[in-house]
Amino acid sequence: MIDLLPIRTQPTTASRLASVDFDHLEFGKAFSDHMFAVDFHNGEWQEAQIVPYGDMAVSPANSALHYGQAIFEGMKAYHQTDGGVALFRPLDNWARMNASAERMCMPTIPEELFMQGLRELLKLDAAWVPSAPGSSLYIRPFMFATDGFIGVRPSDSYRFMIFTCPVGLYFNKPLRVRFEQKYVRSAEGGAGYAKNAGNYGAAMYPTKLAQNEGYNQLIWTDASQHQYVEESGTMNAIFVIDGKVVTPALSTSILDGVTRRSVLQLARDMGLVVEERKLGSREVMDALAAGKLDEAFGVGTAATIAPIATIGYEGQDYDLPELPANAFSKRVTAALDAIRTGEGADVHNWMVRI
Ligand code: COI
Repeated sequence: MIDLLPIRTQPTTASRLASVDFDHLEFGKAFSDHMFAVDFHNGEWQEAQIVPYGDMAVSPANSALHYGQAIFEGMKAYHQTDGGVALFRPLDNWARMNASAERMCMPTIPEELFMQGLRELLKLDAAWVPSAPGSSLYIRPFMFATDGFIGVRPSDSYRFMIFTCPVGLYFNKPLRVRFEQKYVRSAEGGAGYAKNAGNYGAAMYPTKLAQNEGYNQLIWTDASQHQYVEESGTMNAIFVIDGKVVTPALSTSILDGVTRRSVLQLARDMGLVVEERKLGSREVMDALAAGKLDEAFGVGTAATIAPIATIGYEGQDYDLPELPANAFSKRVTAALDAIRTGEGADVHNWMVRI
């Protein structure tokens, strides 16, 4: 392998920063000035580069386009109260990206390559990290096959890239969701735990059907019985039932969310009982009917914590109670925000300064 240092950097001569309206950021539409790219050929990572963000040429026969050999991550960097910039749990994303890579027969990425690429990209585009409350720099590391070959076998060559987008809030109001009992996101033994592109493409049609009915997202259920909660939309799902924080246990069909993991840790820190187990849709609806479903929300990097206001089940909509001021989802959102901006103590050492 070649020496990773230094990354060949071609800074832009025409920054687009002044053209972006930071008061009205739509998720995923504005891209920072630069992107990081490194190719994998002949069994080795090659020289890494940072270049102006823009289109690129790839073989139309690459296996990412034809067979879905493509994976990604979602992570965030935050403006700090002292003016600096810090990443939230980047090594968790690095580890999960490598778990996805293994599942999709792709090469793993050395920690130094991942972290150095991130740091240098963010240093160059530090002015793109928004500072308004609730905003952040969304970071999209991804890798795809690049062989020009349509035989069905893992590609020999790949490209690993990172670009970033300044973002505000993902959802601006509590969600209407419904249990999905026909389509599935993933099955046990499938690739649901990996962050591969195909999981998201395959979810679009059932999600669109639900959106046509007025819901924002689905609550996916298990593939064999359509009974047990899996995830909600592109997020993990968490419920507060009778004062306990309950979420589906991880499995091969559920993504090991970094926000999920962080929220569960903060719940334990607050002294709450946390249960990671099978959770039936019937149990959720019975708790709601009995007045014991205190809260339900999705958790993910893009959305952070997205409260659920209404759940559709077997053709009927059911409203959750109004959230009190001391609701767990509100307290944990405030605790996470404080850690991420440097206002609160980072007792778990989640933040990494760049
Ligand atoms: C994320 O939260 O980072 C996601 O992966 C969701 C999405 C925007 C694909």
